[in-house]
Amino acid sequence: MADPKILIVGGGGREHALAWKIARDSSRPAVFCAPGNAGTAQVAGNVPIQASDPDGLVAWARENRPDLTVIGPEAPLCAGLSDRLEAEGLRVFGPGRDGARLEGSKAFAKEIMASAGVPSARAARFTRAEEAMAYVRRQPGRLVVKADGLAAGKGVTVCDTAAEAAAAVEEALIRRAFGEAGLEVLVEERLEGEEVSVLALTDGKQIELLASAQDHKRVGDGDTGPNTGGMGAYSPAPILDEKQWRTVRSEVFERTLSELTRRGIVYRGVLYAGLMLTADGPKVLEFNCRFGDPETQAILPRWEGDILPALLACAEGNLERVRLAWTPEACVCVVMAAGGYPGRYDADLPISGLEEASALEGVVVFHAGTRLTGGRVMTAGGRVLGVTARGANLREARDRAYGAVERIRFDRAQFRRDIGARGLQR
Ligand code: AMP
Ligand code: GLY
Repeated sequence: MADPKILIVGGGGREHALAWKIARDSSRPAVFCAPGNAGTAQVAGNVPIQASDPDGLVAWARENRPDLTVIGPEAPLCAGLSDRLEAEGLRVFGPGRDGARLEGSKAFAKEIMASAGVPSARAARFTRAEEAMAYVRRQPGRLVVKADGLAAGKGVTVCDTAAEAAAAVEEALIRRAFGEAGLEVLVEERLEGEEVSVLALTDGKQIELLASAQDHKRVGDGDTGPNTGGMGAYSPAPILDEKQWRTVRSEVFERTLSELTRRGIVYRGVLYAGLMLTADGPKVLEFNCRFGDPETQAILPRWEGDILPALLACAEGNLERVRLAWTPEACVCVVMAAGGYPGRYDADLPISGLEEASALEGVVVFHAGTRLTGGRVMTAGGRVLGVTARGANLREARDRAYGAVERIRFDRAQFRRDIGARGLQR
């Protein structure tokens, strides 16, 4: 396909990384990003339609007929944007509403895993608080309480004590802290181990694993403080050895895909497994129906060759023709966030040093929460930038990424100083 037209839905760091990679494709695509940010504007045309406006997106797509639409965030996928675009006769990368339930309903994901024999934490589902409390009291070990639906990353409570688990049940089922998303909860055994993200492309039949990555979810160094959307990532994650990798492929991805197929669900897009590497082997903590953020920022710079043939093959159902290749180099993405994030933070602060940082060897600065105001790049979100660098090894990639972080300034910027440290310890 020559000069294809590509629409990317979303406006965060993941979407900038996708736009950056797609724009470099040898087919010379025209890339559009809705709504995008100040970073996507450098490589794509920003379309002023929010990812939460399916009518607007469908209307744009009907008029502009993109050759492929890549949907970044989970909310539009769970709301059925993919189905609506396909109904217009358009190619879409991203599962339909049925497949997106793997992320949109943790109860559904558990049901699939149980039927398919995918290793994951033991869990029970409840809609009634008394029953959930009684169950909590009967459990010997530590627990995790999860709202069933999408709760903007806040629906999971990892508990040290039964009292904390009971309080989390009360928050969801009695106080309705998560609204509709928390009308059902899962009470799970708490797994111990190190976490790793494995993402796979699939056309519903074939599976191609992407390079591994490790996210850093807590706001503070040494995994302290509250959970965030992700404060940094690196790839590859050396914690996964060859044997575990094969186990994950067969016991997680192949089993899940067969079970979806058995139920008549054709899953096209990325399936993301958040794994805990326990003493009993890898177990699934969660599925996401989309690229991870910020894992994508650390993975895509390692992708060798064009990305579009693979994304198109997923949409068209012929992924068997595609083989992925990765540079042996490592990649590190350090998120620079607004002061106060993940709590309250200020926006509209001017950012300086972006050009200087981007000129450093191996560095690319992905924008997340930024916007252009009168030609200046301003902060516009909690996670502001994903400062990313490649290097011959993890240490070099990390040194380069932090070297770039040092050149960038905005008021009250915060970032973790230990991204990739666990990988280096190995
Ligand atoms: P989720 O939204 O399901 O990924 O949960 C968010 C985070 O909660 C995960 O990344 C883990 O750090 C933690 N978590 C979720 N489930 C468990 C579990 N069963 N045991 C321990 N930690 C968990
Ligand atoms: N990095 C975690 C996520 O994308 O859900």
